[in-house]
Amino acid sequence: MGSADDADTAESIIDVEGRSVLPGFVDAHTHLVYGGDRAEEFGRRLGGESYEAIFAAGGGIMSTVRATRDSGAEELVEITASRLARMAQAGTTTVEIKSGYGLDVETEARMLEAAALAGDHVGVDVVRTFLGAHVVPTEYRHRRDAYVSLVIEEMLPVCAPLAEFVDVFCDRGAFDLDETRAIVEAGIDHGLRPRLHAEQLAHTGAVDLAVELDAISVDHLDHVTTDQAAAMAGAGTIAVLVPGVTLQMRTDAPDVAALREAGVTMALASDANPGTSNVELMTTVIALGSLLYGMSVEEAVWAATRGGALAVDRPDRGRVSPTDRADLVVLDAPHPVHLSYRVDRRPVYGVIRAGQIRCMVMETER
Ligand code: NIG
Ligand code: FE
Repeated sequence: MGSADDADTAESIIDVEGRSVLPGFVDAHTHLVYGGDRAEEFGRRLGGESYEAIFAAGGGIMSTVRATRDSGAEELVEITASRLARMAQAGTTTVEIKSGYGLDVETEARMLEAAALAGDHVGVDVVRTFLGAHVVPTEYRHRRDAYVSLVIEEMLPVCAPLAEFVDVFCDRGAFDLDETRAIVEAGIDHGLRPRLHAEQLAHTGAVDLAVELDAISVDHLDHVTTDQAAAMAGAGTIAVLVPGVTLQMRTDAPDVAALREAGVTMALASDANPGTSNVELMTTVIALGSLLYGMSVEEAVWAATRGGALAVDRPDRGRVSPTDRADLVVLDAPHPVHLSYRVDRRPVYGVIRAGQIRCMVMETER
């Protein structure tokens, strides 16, 4: 699949008949390993109950923690693989997966193991992140310090060898700046690079801490400020934007214009999870990036490919280049604007991963 000039030396030529070819999608933020679902809670939120109030009453993330703790190792692999298979069919070739629904040593490790096994099973590259500090679990509610110690002293030694990144949900109702700093510094000591859930529910200063600690990315950013955008641009901290959350939490978009103006590198990710974003396909994420965040289609596609690759430290992918891996998506459309224009169609014609055709399906609409 080279240019016309390369046609003589190419091993094989695939005629995609005028369809558009993009780099494989790199989804830089997911919580794909989980038991159960939160459909009932979602219905209540549509009826006016708040995400934070449901969590405070023992639901939300804690209800997924209970369901995940109750899921066996094989069951977790199987259910994660079925999610990954849907994503792979729609063009995701690399995906970041976090732990964070175990919140005990054993289940956190089981989640990270399941992520890798599911990726091997489906044939998607998985990048793993340890998120033992997602929330303080109910049983530690009155002993926060003991939970932070558990994460640092017991979870990290077991989970760090199973992950590349350490993440903390640094936000109102989750972890504060001091707790986040302690956990991230311990993660760095174990060889993990930080990335943070930052400025989602409230403005806390999490971005400033992330920049100070050389985080590779800050994710969500609903409450990011122009000063923070400038600091991120200066430090090269990537903004991972998650419009599926904006859609399903029915919140305002982050200040994407300020990020763009400051020159921040932006990635788009699904944040696939059972609570805030039950969105799996990067084709949908690109559509939402343009429709909800005002990104141009070129900007959204770049953010879902090269931006994602940089955000998960995989510089060998996310663009179509003879020096990079041949991870490619063939759209069943002449231009990627159709992802946003024909928003509810199935827009992927074929997927190639590391030079191998993994599916070429006729979903034609002409
Ligand atoms: O990225 N913000 C924190 N964590 C997830 C939501 C997890 C959940 O609600 O289950 C997120 O939005
Ligand atoms: Fe998340």
